[in-house]
Amino acid sequence: MFEGKTLLITGGTGTFGNAVLRRFLPTEIDEIRIFSRDEKKQDDMRRVYPSSKVKFYLGDVRNEQSIRDAMVGVDYIFQAAALKQVPSCEFFPIEAVRTNALGAENVLNAAMAAGVRRVIVLSTDKAVYPINAMGISKAMMEKLAVAKSRVAGNSTTICCTRYGNVMASRGSVVPLFIRQIQAGRPLTVTDPQMTRFMMSIDGAVDLVLWAFERGNPGDIFVQKAPAATIETLARALQQVFKVTTPVQVIGTRHGEKLYETLLTREEMAVAEDMGGYYRVAADNRDLNYGLYFDKGRSEVSAVEDYNSHNTRRLSVEEMAEMLRSLDIVKRALAGETIDQ
Ligand SMILES: NC(=O)c1ccc[n+]([C@@H]2O[C@H](COP(=O)([O-])OP(=O)(O)OC[C@H]3O[C@@H](n4cnc5c(N)ncnc54)[C@H](OP(=O)(O)O)[C@@H]3O)[C@@H](O)[C@H]2O)c1
Repeated sequence: MFEGKTLLITGGTGTFGNAVLRRFLPTEIDEIRIFSRDEKKQDDMRRVYPSSKVKFYLGDVRNEQSIRDAMVGVDYIFQAAALKQVPSCEFFPIEAVRTNALGAENVLNAAMAAGVRRVIVLSTDKAVYPINAMGISKAMMEKLAVAKSRVAGNSTTICCTRYGNVMASRGSVVPLFIRQIQAGRPLTVTDPQMTRFMMSIDGAVDLVLWAFERGNPGDIFVQKAPAATIETLARALQQVFKVTTPVQVIGTRHGEKLYETLLTREEMAVAEDMGGYYRVAADNRDLNYGLYFDKGRSEVSAVEDYNSHNTRRLSVEEMAEMLRSLDIVKRALAGETIDQ
């Protein structure tokens, strides 16, 4: 589907954008545009991927004009630009709204105006039953995307994907634990019983491609994933690095949940089970449906939400196996000092 096409990745210098480039550069895709604000990250990336297929666009999703210019001739978009650190969004919530919600709306408006064929918007489990500003801004982004999809229809097909914790992505706990192990410091665990879905970055790319190939307007896709407690993660890293570094419990962080949810109860009641994935179709009833409301959905009361506490849990050995496959772990085991 990408042969001879032009793909724009907003936030393309991030973990996701880099993974997409690694996956797509050997294919027959015509052009991949990387759109982001920081010229330094773009310059670093330019050196890593010296390919004429990759084009860099400086801009900001908050500025619709800068996106419009990057969108000329684009077939498809992965909307990945985001502020995604929970603590910084807690302190500057309106910044999260500006980038994650209003910035995404700018991207969707520009995509519809430019006649882009498909847009996949990347969301997070933190947008489900959100308790922090980052999750709330992403939940609004999803609502905007579904609302826009009703207007855009099949001219510009807009779908969402939600995924959980990407192991070892920028700012995540795996690099922190590795740095602590390398410095001989205790592993700081907020709450050992806290669970998170465990996904690899390749799993995140697979999810976006799954949605890209199958999505109808307004669909939300999630990938089924195993979960682990943070204690299991810490113990697995001790096992991988053969250390006995103590684990220090420091208490729950600002805006942090005990477990994450990928689908609400209401969504589970209508979700299509696609094997490794769930699809939740948009609710496309007319706004007047409330006038005729005389019957609710009893099936909602019969299902549970899909969360990291009620899904399959990884053992320490299984977690260690997953960790050993990560590039950052391989580099650290080979003696590299991890500083990201
Ligand atoms: N990593 C995870 O664990 C995870 C989990 C679930 C969902 N997701 C979602 O997946 C997407 C990609 O995540 P990621 O891990 O690749 O994030 P990342 O590594 O932090 O990258 C974020 C990207 O967004 C760009 N960006 C930030 N603000 C921008 C703005 N105003 N205009 C244009 N670009 C902007 C950043 O570049 P500049 O700073 O140079 O602009 C960077 O390229 C995000 O939407 C995130 O919410 C991630």
